Amino acid sequence: MRLITLFLIFLIISSCGSNEKKASQKEESIKQEYLQKGGEIVNLTQSELLKNVSNAMKKGGPGYAIDFCNTRAMLLKDSLSRLNNCQIRRIAIKYRNPADMPQTKTEEDQLSQYQHANQKGDSIKPKVYLFDDRIEYYQPILINKGSCLICHGKPGKQIAEETLEKIKARYPNDLATGFALNDFRGAWKITFMK
Ligand code: HEC
Repeated sequence: MRLITLFLIFLIISSCGSNEKKASQKEESIKQEYLQKGGEIVNLTQSELLKNVSNAMKKGGPGYAIDFCNTRAMLLKDSLSRLNNCQIRRIAIKYRNPADMPQTKTEEDQLSQYQHANQKGDSIKPKVYLFDDRIEYYQPILINKGSCLICHGKPGKQIAEETLEKIKARYPNDLATGFALNDFRGAWKITFMK
């Protein structure tokens, strides 16, 4: 009798284990799928944005490009969000547009995790989080080009006086200056609703 009970307990425990394993394998494959999906959407949005900003810089210099960033970048994000059936956001601890301030605990935690890892010199990678009603994809943004410093570098040094005035006028509480090459700047966040 005791042996049978033991055997039953063993059976229950081992079947639970394999269910858990299956569930975590499924989770892993969903994460892989969304790492790829999120990455593709970010590539598309980022390259459109860069193309637009560098055209605006050529056309009217940094001052003109700042106005452009503020209005057109929003529209671009919105239309790409609709096209891909997701919500596209940029977030940053040191934000320029207050709309890019972290708004949830996950956003805050992810940004500070990236920040610490980058300060230690570790490489930082995209992450996927699964929730009951949605999936969130995060991808770090670094100051990866010298040209970023024209608008995000040191005031008076890389940021020209005229550009700084333009930034201050549009974003009176701007926090997004003083960066150096390869600094952590913020993250893309893509939300897929289930
Ligand atoms: C012509 C000036 C200019 C240049 C060059 C520029 N930015 Fe920006 N950046 C801005 C402005 C203006 C905003 C605010 C846009 C808005 O209102 O949504 C911004 C916002 C951002 C944000 C969103 C978070 C926040 O602070 O609101 C990130 C991330 C960012 N920039 C990264 C970069 C990187 C990386 C580069 C270089 C590849 C770069 N920027 C080059 C002007 C610039």
